[in-house]
Amino acid sequence: MDHFLYKNGALYAEDVPVSAIADAVGTPFYVYSTATLLRHFKLFDDALEGVDHLVCYAMKAASNQAILKTLAQAGAGMDVVSGGEYMRAKAAGVPGDRIVFSGVGKTAAEIRLALEGGIRQFNVESEPEMVVLDATAQAMGKVAPVTIRINPDVDAKTHAKIATGKSENKFGIPISRAREVYRLAASMPGLEVIGIDVHIGSQLTELAPFELAYEKVAELTEVLRADGHTIRRLDLGGGLGIPYARDNQAPPLPSDYGAMVRRKLGHLGCEIEIEPGRLIAGNAGLMVSEVIYVKSGEDRDFLIIDGAMNDLIRPAMYEAYHDIVPVKETAAGVEQVRYDIVGPVCESGDTFARARMMPPLAAGDLVAFRSAGAYGAVMSSEYNSRPLIPEVLVHNDQFAVIRRRPTFDEMINRDTIPEWL
Ligand code: LLP
Repeated sequence: MDHFLYKNGALYAEDVPVSAIADAVGTPFYVYSTATLLRHFKLFDDALEGVDHLVCYAMKAASNQAILKTLAQAGAGMDVVSGGEYMRAKAAGVPGDRIVFSGVGKTAAEIRLALEGGIRQFNVESEPEMVVLDATAQAMGKVAPVTIRINPDVDAKTHAKIATGKSENKFGIPISRAREVYRLAASMPGLEVIGIDVHIGSQLTELAPFELAYEKVAELTEVLRADGHTIRRLDLGGGLGIPYARDNQAPPLPSDYGAMVRRKLGHLGCEIEIEPGRLIAGNAGLMVSEVIYVKSGEDRDFLIIDGAMNDLIRPAMYEAYHDIVPVKETAAGVEQVRYDIVGPVCESGDTFARARMMPPLAAGDLVAFRSAGAYGAVMSSEYNSRPLIPEVLVHNDQFAVIRRRPTFDEMINRDTIPEWL
């Protein structure tokens, strides 16, 4: 459930008409709902109630500081994957002991940053990374808390570009080699091994792949403990999917997921961490865009809107489906028509939807992309020299611009011209 509903014939973000935001900031823009963000965080937090746990929001999904602050104030930790994300989380007031650092390619500089500023744990993904982490920590007179990400070789049954738990993926160390890698880690004075990490992919719509992976984690916990390692924390990653199409079967709920986690891992007495991103932010955000032209093609009509693939790349990159709805509610009985919905970027890939049934629309009408809160603004670019679009946060009847649209000059003046020109 989200807080983007029609009231009196118009789409609202909580108690703010979406059209009022468009009037204030221009289109296109992203708008997020505080109530939806908090609701989704709480679903996960409640799902693990009674178990020692921390929900570390995977901030790669949507990393505006206002979003981070909203979630951190509710008790969330953060999962970061770069020095930039680490600094952003810190800037939003998240304490180091609530930040976990994931990712296959942490540089020595990023590791130093996190050791200096404080970190809950590094999720280590390879032996060479362990060597760098050990050396960096020792040089700083510190001991780095680590979990080791194991690759359980399970099929997440999701889009190939966002599956991470098969042996052919670059992530983690093969579970078959876990014992020797833990032995090596235990011999490094700069590391303190505290647990196991696993993340098998994103937009999972069934629990079965998680179950398979967590069974392997449970087994491995026993084996590593028998080898003399302290395994007191299990980081179970993120990945629970969201319903993108309203008429599709809904993925399992966080409560189902939480119950499964208890069933598979509860007996081990470990602290549990999870790293959901999409399920917290996805349905908490819309991208709102205006129709520029309706163009009649030979065999179809094109809805040309002012948002483009640089603003929301998911359809172009993953063939992702997003519900696209008119901001003015369609009156009952209006016959729907078929549109290809496209942006102005000079690529045929800049297509959001083909043959999509919509009410008849005209230039100047607003449309909203649902489920655009996760992997929307964060994946945008200024391709075609289109300035990054603004982000707006709604809280009840208030709204605030949380990242403004840069001017053309700001965008252009980031370039510098060498003196020989
Ligand atoms: N933890 C780790 C280590 C991850 O790599 C990810 C996502 C997450 C947690 C959060 O997964 P989530 O709960 O959001 O599914 N850009 C793609 C999704 C990429 C996901 C990458 N890793 C998309 O737009 O679908």
